[in-house]
Amino acid sequence: MIITVVNQKGGVGKTTTSVNLAYLLAQRSNVALIDLDPEGGSTVSFGIRRDKKELKLGEKSVNIFNVEFFPAHVGLLNLELSGEVEAVAQGLKEIAKGFDITVIDTPPNLGTLAVAAMIAGDRILTPITPHPLAIQVTKNLGERLASLGKVAHAVTNMSNKPVNVNVEGIKSLEIAVPQSKLFIEASRLGVPALRLEEFKTKRPRLQAVFENIAKVITG
Ligand SMILES: Nc1ncnc2c1ncn2[C@@H]1O[C@H](COP(=O)(O)OP(=O)(O)OP(=O)(O)O)[C@@H](O)[C@H]1O
Ligand SMILES: [Mg+2]
Repeated sequence: MIITVVNQKGGVGKTTTSVNLAYLLAQRSNVALIDLDPEGGSTVSFGIRRDKKELKLGEKSVNIFNVEFFPAHVGLLNLELSGEVEAVAQGLKEIAKGFDITVIDTPPNLGTLAVAAMIAGDRILTPITPHPLAIQVTKNLGERLASLGKVAHAVTNMSNKPVNVNVEGIKSLEIAVPQSKLFIEASRLGVPALRLEEFKTKRPRLQAVFENIAKVITG
């Protein structure tokens, strides 16, 4: 199963969602995480550097916290410019054959890489923030999803209350990921926030939220 995390708006929590969902699922399944963002958000979040070499899709991976992780590299920029949507989607499906679950983190646009990941995705997860502009741009995303014959599940990020976007092609979940300093601290340390939370508290609040996301998305 491929879970594609997508939203063309920047900074809404695609990388945070991808990294923590992959980390959680990897405790019980064979999980891959593909960083398809040329900026390498997930790669940095996992404390590794972007590869300066141009690699083929899926050529190189490293196991971190039980997640088989495919880091960003400079070749992604060329793929983004290539417009080869179908070929990239096929490449992603090939990688995913080796795993129970493959999570894909995408760049903040609706270009080749993001659209290819949506085509390849069996499930599409869209983090949204409760700001009017962020909600408005989901309209374009909904239209793009509809043209691909796909439906996304939206999870509200940085909020105590779930937001209902009411857009065709996007189903709003009754799940909200609260604002938490743990995410900022975790990205500084290069570990998933859920990992950090395990060490810090006996009552992992964020873990419970991500368990809910995992249940809906993989169920
Ligand atoms: N629930 C949260 N509470 C506090 N900080 C958060 C939360 N979610 C994300 N952040 C922080 O917000 C910033 C943006 O999050 P993230 O990188 O996941 O977004 P993104 O959608 O992947 O961004 P981009 O579009 O640039 O790739 C990061 O610094 C992250 O640590
Ligand atoms: Mg990102």
